[in-house]
Amino acid sequence: MRILTDVLAVLSDRARTDGHRLVLVGPRLTPAQYQRVNEVLEAVGGRWTKTEGAHLFPVHAAEVLAPVLTTGEVVTLGEKRTLAQYFPTPDSVVGRLIALADLEPGMTVLEPSAGSGAIATAAAARGAIVDCIERDPGYATVLSDAHVARRVQVADFLTIPVEPRFDRVLMNPPFTRGTDMAHVTHALRFLKPNGLLVSVMSWTVTEQTGGTTAFRKLVEQRGGLVEALPARAFSQSGTTVDTVLVTIPATRPADSQPTIWPVRNLPTQDVEELGNLADIAAEIVANLRKAVAAVEEVAAALTKPAPITVPGDIEVS
Ligand SMILES: C[S@@+](CC[C@H](N)C(=O)[O-])C[C@H]1O[C@@H](n2cnc3c(N)ncnc32)[C@H](O)[C@@H]1O
Repeated sequence: MRILTDVLAVLSDRARTDGHRLVLVGPRLTPAQYQRVNEVLEAVGGRWTKTEGAHLFPVHAAEVLAPVLTTGEVVTLGEKRTLAQYFPTPDSVVGRLIALADLEPGMTVLEPSAGSGAIATAAAARGAIVDCIERDPGYATVLSDAHVARRVQVADFLTIPVEPRFDRVLMNPPFTRGTDMAHVTHALRFLKPNGLLVSVMSWTVTEQTGGTTAFRKLVEQRGGLVEALPARAFSQSGTTVDTVLVTIPATRPADSQPTIWPVRNLPTQDVEELGNLADIAAEIVANLRKAVAAVEEVAAALTKPAPITVPGDIEVS
């Protein structure tokens, strides 16, 4: 996005940086102006922090501000969401994903679409040794500076040569046009023979379509588990897409059960609609009864002796 001149003027004349902090000095901005300035600061990793009275950055604020002022361009979070499919995993989902992963300290973990590290950070906090891949250099920098990962590689994961050396793969890949299935299928090849992959995926994978057949077969052959996440689990990250957590072992366990694909629960409004459907059904039955009665009436009339028509158009009963 091209940054508007008034926003650039505020950032160049009124932004004071001090380490990770950025403060806007001078007269109060109008709400609309503040919103535009804030959008730029958030796009480069800043977050307004009331207790600090400042925007805080994961890296030195001056470093991220300099290219913004030089180029007058920024990729906003909205643009990133659309282009890069950046939807950070909320804490509740990360917690469930980590629980399914059965992590132990010292395990090696690959996060192949790591973003700014929601999953990687939680895995590292449990003592795992985490290697990350992220295509967006901005998120990769944030992640690198957080020092939670052993290695952060800026790359397109789908082009990374396979190396089966990880105990776990934990991921929330991009979803557009089935890319989650491509990412998970590629990621499975990075597991050791006794490894386990847990991924957030689009609800689409639970549906039987031509595009999901091969992937569903793979999950079933490995004895994978599929768990529905609550509706709108990612709303705080900017998407209402329905999601599942898919757990796939590198090798099918001897005691594995058949995969059960979750079915979508009808939301309340649909239940109300079902109530209306019952009314409609009752009306149909009533109409059918009326129709049957009408048919019976016609049948009774037909059993009466038929009138005889004789030449001369005289009707005789
Ligand atoms: C849904 S976000 C998840 C971010 C992070 N895993 C989390 O859970 O918070 C998907 C991430 O994948 C990255 N990404 C998209 N395509 C990629 C690719 N081909 N290789 C590596 N990363 C990719 C995006 O930049 C984005 O950060």
